[in-house]
Amino acid sequence: MHIMAASYIWLDGKMMPRERCKVDILTHSLQYGSGIFEGIREYNTDSGPRIFRLRDHVKRFFNSARICSMELNISEREMEDAIIETVKKNKLKECYIRPFAFYNDTSIGLSTAGKKVSIAIAAVPFGNYFKDKEKGISCIVSSWRRINSQILPPQAKSSGHYRNSITASAEAKSLGANEAVLLDTNGYVAEGPGENIFLVKNSALVTPSESSDILVGITRDSIIKLAEAFGIHVEERQVHREELYTCEELFFTGTAAEITTISKIDGRVVGKGVTGPVTRLLSSKFYEAAAGRLGAFTDWLTPVR
Ligand SMILES: Cc1ncc(COP(=O)(O)O)c(C=O)c1O
Repeated sequence: MHIMAASYIWLDGKMMPRERCKVDILTHSLQYGSGIFEGIREYNTDSGPRIFRLRDHVKRFFNSARICSMELNISEREMEDAIIETVKKNKLKECYIRPFAFYNDTSIGLSTAGKKVSIAIAAVPFGNYFKDKEKGISCIVSSWRRINSQILPPQAKSSGHYRNSITASAEAKSLGANEAVLLDTNGYVAEGPGENIFLVKNSALVTPSESSDILVGITRDSIIKLAEAFGIHVEERQVHREELYTCEELFFTGTAAEITTISKIDGRVVGKGVTGPVTRLLSSKFYEAAAGRLGAFTDWLTPVR
């Protein structure tokens, strides 16, 4: 019989059994989507469990808080330590880590002034986000546009912003595709609902730039750095929709999606319809780096000790 290990949540400095970690139905961040969050992976390596790019994720968490004027009563260093402690307490060698800061206040009304901010950290077992990440998934270009900085800043990983992602993703699924690709307000390719997108064109790597209202992903940055290290030319620029149809290879990157091949877009087969050589190379280098087997990139890994 498989017995589920007890799960613990770090909540405002205390480790609590998950079943005791409850919030009121009227909690501000539940009602209005005012929380901010991160998604981080822990990988098991030859030298033991390691958290992938912890410092960068914590930095982005604090930037999300700054954009949203949310006061976190903790330092970045303390947050890193709390994340490590949570992973350790849950005795997980590979997991998905979800830090979450939220207005833990039940009074009705939009104002956040003076409202208590709580921080919770969960660590849960997590496999592949897309089961066909290597074989390839099918995508459609969504009829919904990506949020932009004039309305909801894409650089803040705020819960409410994900209504945009959920809507686009649900549309894709309702049309029989695995996932959506969103265009920005100007009609250029932005990203997936929770993933950045890369194209291979004439053997060079192309990805929408920050000006296309993307979340500047940490996996995206890892892939760019790996590409540069292995001699692949990288272009960060505006990408036209039709380039999705004519490129040689197409893939998503993200903490959850890792490297996921897109083999079909808007009913058209991408390239040869299988994972192409550039994607294969970058993907294998990415997992080598995550496994601590790429000497130049071991500083991406934080030991869980
Ligand atoms: C909208 C969006 N874009 C891109 C990404 C990929 O970012 P990262 O690689 O940092 O997980 C995510 C996931 O966090 C996301 O939610």
